[in-house]
Amino acid sequence: MRPHDATPAWDREIAVPFRHRVWFTDGALDPANPAFAHALRCACPGRDSPSRMAAFIDSGVLTAWPQLTDQLARYLQAHAGLPELVWVESMPGGEACKNDPSCVEDVLDAVDHLRIDRHSMVLAIGGGAVLDVVGFGAAIAHRGVRHVRMPTTVLAQDDSAMGVKNGVNRKGKKNFTGSFAPPDAVVCDRAFLGTLPDSAWCGGFSEAVKIALLKDAALFSTLERDGAAIRSRSMDAAWPVIMRSAELHARHILDGGDPFETREARPLDHGHWAAHRLESMTSFELPHGEAVGIGLALDTVYARRIGLLGAEPAARILRVLANLGLARSHPMLRSMDDLMRGLEEFREHLGGTLTITLMRDIGHPVEVHEIDRVAMREAAAELLDQHG
Ligand SMILES: NC(=O)c1ccc[n+]([C@@H]2O[C@H](COP(=O)([O-])OP(=O)(O)OC[C@H]3O[C@@H](n4cnc5c(N)ncnc54)[C@H](O)[C@@H]3O)[C@@H](O)[C@H]2O)c1
Ligand SMILES: [Zn+2]
Repeated sequence: MRPHDATPAWDREIAVPFRHRVWFTDGALDPANPAFAHALRCACPGRDSPSRMAAFIDSGVLTAWPQLTDQLARYLQAHAGLPELVWVESMPGGEACKNDPSCVEDVLDAVDHLRIDRHSMVLAIGGGAVLDVVGFGAAIAHRGVRHVRMPTTVLAQDDSAMGVKNGVNRKGKKNFTGSFAPPDAVVCDRAFLGTLPDSAWCGGFSEAVKIALLKDAALFSTLERDGAAIRSRSMDAAWPVIMRSAELHARHILDGGDPFETREARPLDHGHWAAHRLESMTSFELPHGEAVGIGLALDTVYARRIGLLGAEPAARILRVLANLGLARSHPMLRSMDDLMRGLEEFREHLGGTLTITLMRDIGHPVEVHEIDRVAMREAAAELLDQHG
């Protein structure tokens, strides 16, 4: 060893393969439906004795589906070799659970008291918020126990459950604490979507608009054609859009070469710098999906005002948002000093240079590193004036 040698003793890459498995189904807990059983066996392979399962269910889902705990227990008993259900707990649905540190603690307590080891699993049934909390608890307990997601909202099925992230809010900031931990299986059951309130149903399609803008002009055209049918809750119109959006999100994460987001650019967060800030400015009363719709509208008008995006595609984007029942403005757009702090928070979250993804056309994103604050104020004023 030479004390002043800068050459490392070794320098090797660590490759850790993960499997990403997603099922789309209808009535997952019907004992005649084998999809969920298959998902659980894939999530916990090679076991000669049944493992144990602790389940956390979104309180909003339990209200809408009061028989769910019994259905889950019956389903697990009806199929050989599935985990033993040792715990079911309700978790407050929505952003409340991400703001309350005791919810992560509840997951840790369950893992501890029920001896959920790395061969057992935690199941989360719920919206994106509950999935984020339970996924985070599962990721940090024993440095990671298996976890299976059953998303129950449009947004969780068309976006958040596809990802490899989890997180909770701290210090008044979205997702300040969290981890990258791919789920062991994801089962999207469209039956759950039937009990969503209209606002949550519509809100979830903002992420489909986002991914269509980024990656798939044909999906954008489908949203233009079917927006009204989706808004009036046609499952025939909505389900292909949800599956396509999920697939595009998953492909980006799995094939984009940066699943753990080490690069500065984060295209899937198009429209999100403002959305995340609006959520915290409204003390998280504005739901994520609705905030994303407003964030997309703001970045669209901004891109048009700086001459990046044409007037025609900009008008199409604003129209699609409206047809899907998404708001394009919010009273908080009057507090632009506060809102624009979101840009700095966005940069801080990733580190390095500010990188915002904007559109130069539908299906054609570009990265920009500077924001013209005067033009951004004008964009907000325009939205307030026309859609306020
Ligand atoms: N981890 C990620 O990669 C990622 C990506 C995008 C979004 N997210 C997060 O997801 C969260 C938003 O998730 P969301 O839009 O799914 O909403 P949500 O989890 O906030 O749930 C919204 C409401 O719907 C209720 N609900 C859920 N399913 C229901 C059903 N089937 N029937 C009736 N009520 C139901 C919930 O109880 C809650 O009151 C945000 O916290 C966001 O930051 C995470
Ligand atoms: Zn989002």
